[in-house]
Amino acid sequence: MEKLLVEICAGTACLLLGSQDLFAAIDALPDNIRQQIDLCEVTCLHSCRQGPNVRIAGQVISNMKPDRLMEIIEDYLRPQEAELSPAAYIVT
Ligand code: FES
Repeated sequence: MEKLLVEICAGTACLLLGSQDLFAAIDALPDNIRQQIDLCEVTCLHSCRQGPNVRIAGQVISNMKPDRLMEIIEDYLRPQEAELSPAAYIVT
């Protein structure tokens, strides 16, 4: 099974805006969920003012909060009933 790629920005702006809370939330996931995630730390996703930023399956999502990240991950890992896209999580 292909893992879900989750890239969390650890650049200065995103760290100041709370990206460390996102790393902690992923680390706190149960092992069976955590094993389905390929977590990467990236240095900047070029949306510094809207941080913390996360790129999930190639789509950057800004203003991320731990609860929201968990919801998105849960949706991705849920057996596919409908086509999901990270674009559904972008707040404009
Ligand atoms: S520091 Fe995170 S997007 Fe630039």
